[in-house]
Order: sequence, then C-alpha cells, then structure tokens
Amino acid sequence: MDQFENILLEKLDGNLYCLTINRPKVLNALNQQTLLEMDAALQIVADDSSARVLLVTGSGEKAFVAGADISQMQNLTPLQAKKFGETALAVFRRFETLDVPVIALVNGFALGGGCELALSCDFILASENAKLGQPEVCLGVTPGFGGSQRLPRIVGRAMAMEMLVSGRMVDANEALQRGLVNHVYPQAELLEQGLKLAAKICKNGPVAVKLTKELVQRGQDLDLENACAMESDLFGLSFASDEQSEGMQAFLEKRQANF
Ligand code: CAA
Repeated sequence: MDQFENILLEKLDGNLYCLTINRPKVLNALNQQTLLEMDAALQIVADDSSARVLLVTGSGEKAFVAGADISQMQNLTPLQAKKFGETALAVFRRFETLDVPVIALVNGFALGGGCELALSCDFILASENAKLGQPEVCLGVTPGFGGSQRLPRIVGRAMAMEMLVSGRMVDANEALQRGLVNHVYPQAELLEQGLKLAAKICKNGPVAVKLTKELVQRGQDLDLENACAMESDLFGLSFASDEQSEGMQAFLEKRQANF
C-alpha cells in the first residue's frame, strides 16, 4: 500500500494491520497531511472485514511521535489552531471507535500529540527507551489533541496534572508503574511482542473481540447501571454469531476453537 507519503500501512498475516508514522527526520511529528493520511488509512482498515488488530508505531529507533509539527503550528492563527486540533481529535477518535483493538507500540519519544495518539489507542506496549509526556505548556500552549482529557482518565487526575503542568517526561518504567503502558520490552523485541499479542487476539472470536471493545469504549462514559445493561445486550447479541456455538462446542470437545 504505497499511496501515502508520511505513513506506511501494511497488511501482515492476512488480518493484522500495522500503521507506521514515517517522518523519522522530524521524529515522526504530526503535520496536517500526516493526520489526513492516517484518516485515510483508518478508512481502509475499517472497510476490511477481515481486519482483526491494528498496530500503530513510529519509524526509526528514536521516536514513536514527538508531537504535533511545531514548524507547521508556529504561525497558525487561533482559528487555524482550533481547526488543526479538531482534525487531530477526529482522527484520534477513529482509533477509539475502530471496531478492532488498536495497540500502540511506543518505540521512543511519545510527546504532546504523540502521547495523545498513544492514549487514543486501546493500550500501549513500550520499549525500554520510551519517554512519554505532554510538554505543550513548555511551548506556551495547552494540549490540543485530547491529552488533558484522556491522560487523567488513564493515570488519574493527580498524576495527569503533574505531567500536564510540569511537562515532565516519564520513562518506560514509571509509565508501567502508573498503568500508562501495559508492558515494557527491549526495543529490538517490541514489534515481535506486539505481533505475538496481536496473534493471540486473532485466535479469539472476532465478533466477540469487536463487541468487547465496543463495551469498554461506550461503557466508560456511562453510569454503571446503564453500562451493565449495555453489557447484557451485547452479551445476548454475541449468542447470535456462529462463534458462540463453535467456541463452546470446542471447549466441551476439548479442542481449539476454529473461528
Ligand atoms: N515538530 C517538528 N519538528 C520536530 C518535533 C516536533 N514536535 N520534534 C522534533 N522535531 C525535529 C527537530 O526540530 C529536529 O529537526 P532538525 O534535525 O531539522 O533540527 C529533529 O526533529 C530531531 O530532533 P532534535 O534534534 O530536537 O532531537 P533531540 O534528540 O535533541 O531531542 C526531543 C528529542 C526531546 C524529542 C526534542 O526533539 C523535542 O523536545 N521535540 C519537541 C517535543 C514537543 O514539544 N512536543 C509537543 C509538540 S506540541 C503538541 O504536540 C501540541 C498538541 O497537543 C497538539
């Protein structure tokens, strides 16, 4: 798939996609064109009913994404800045609402818009050299791609406030302790570990995996009663697929389910 300049979209193994932000000379900074290319790539994945997992990473060994492109932002008017932020927010929202799990492989700096991109993925695996942070205040601006809202929901208000107002970067081990990333691996193993986890997800019932993502994504903004009612509905719905009969039959026959 070579229609993009600033990203790579690869289909691996039939049902696994990998999206790589590919501007290593500027540490994969996100400019407007990159955001639009990401949007188009997400449409390709969304349109492919065989897709089961999307991995997102950055090109090179130094950075996942070092933020929004500062050289492009420097001379924006307030209205242009608002529009730029809205474009990114809409694209990042698509990672959350994509029907398959999205795993961020944070292979270096994930700062500002880069941290916000990782936070929009379903979870994060990091390399040992990863550094995550929201340094926007150091540039005299607020976060603009969702960090002030998603970071507190993940690490809690106090830790998020510290990171947001100090601009302090956290390293991979601190991020792990804080629940910001799920696992930390040597950089050379990060992709392999991401693929291993993705393969495990791909073995499960694809409809059940999609419904589970929908439950978590939609449920987190509902009160518990309505969220659990939604869970009952989707639990019931999951019995409408062939997967349920195959999954339970396989268990009872003591064999691997074939989804
Ligand atoms: N935008 C544009 N260019 C960037 C960039 C960014 N966010 N981050 C790095 N670059 C460029 C550098 O300008 C440099 O380009 P040149 O080679 O042409 O000079 C190249 O990438 C390599 O970077 P450094 O030489 O700075 O590398 P380093 O190892 O010395 O430092 C770094 C690495 C600490 C990540 C440093 O590059 C840095 O602080 N980057 C900016 C991080 C940042 O502030 N991100 C937030 C942006 S604002 C934002 O994202 C707002 C929002 O919420 C939407």
